[in-house]
Amino acid sequence: MTEQPSRTPSTRADLGKDPARVSGMFDEVAAGYDRTNTILSLGNDKLWRIATTRAIAPRRGQRILDLAAGTGASSVSLARSGAEVVAGDFSAGMIAEGKRRHGGIPNLSFVEADATALPFADEEFDTVTISFGLRNVNDPDKALREMLRVTKPGGSLVICEFSHPPAALMRGLYRFYNDRVLPVVARAFSSNADAYDYLNESIRDWPDQRTLAGRIRAAGWEQVAWRDLSFGIVALHRARKPATPGRA
Ligand SMILES: C[S@@+](CC[C@H](N)C(=O)[O-])C[C@H]1O[C@@H](n2cnc3c(N)ncnc32)[C@H](O)[C@@H]1O
Repeated sequence: MTEQPSRTPSTRADLGKDPARVSGMFDEVAAGYDRTNTILSLGNDKLWRIATTRAIAPRRGQRILDLAAGTGASSVSLARSGAEVVAGDFSAGMIAEGKRRHGGIPNLSFVEADATALPFADEEFDTVTISFGLRNVNDPDKALREMLRVTKPGGSLVICEFSHPPAALMRGLYRFYNDRVLPVVARAFSSNADAYDYLNESIRDWPDQRTLAGRIRAAGWEQVAWRDLSFGIVALHRARKPATPGRA
């Protein structure tokens, strides 16, 4: 992060939920973001993206919103299916880097979009997906309602996000990695290592799988289910918008 932490909030995760600060932080790490992720996740990010793309099952003729898309790493594999993909993010830096890298893909467009006030009409998309983004949004429940609004009745939601390994041993190992290893590696490879301190704190403060499922349901989604990836380090939540108009 570029900011000097003030003394009031208790963690960087609190600080980082300020939208201007979050977008500023991602603006700053945009160029090296994907490479640093691959290093810090020990290459697992590729597997998580494959699992997410499979859950979405993109097809030609569909319109898909990939929200908090960053540089479009998750959007590109969706666009390969032939689906019309909109990559939305509120960081101008991430969007610019995404356009620079993937601007030539005709069925992939990059749009500046705040997840809590989406610049899209009701029921525009067959699927809305968000990878490693919802945790960063200042009001995730509002974002879940906005995602519902722009999804067609019967359409689907796929959320890929860091979570909490259910097994105590794995949870301990993961905590050790995040608290002790990640800060050292991030300082060696990232242009802004504070951003990765924020990452650690925001993961620690994020709800577990069951709690997140409850919040998705509370936003109006149905058929909410999840599956753990890498022992629950990441969870893939899926849900559907009620098909009957007016039920959401
Ligand atoms: C960790 S990155 C994930 C990027 C990409 N989805 C991926 O899988 O690599 C989180 C992204 O969320 C975006 N973000 C955070 N809050 C947002 C909001 N309210 N609206 C839109 N994007 C937001 C950030 O700008 C950042 O690009």
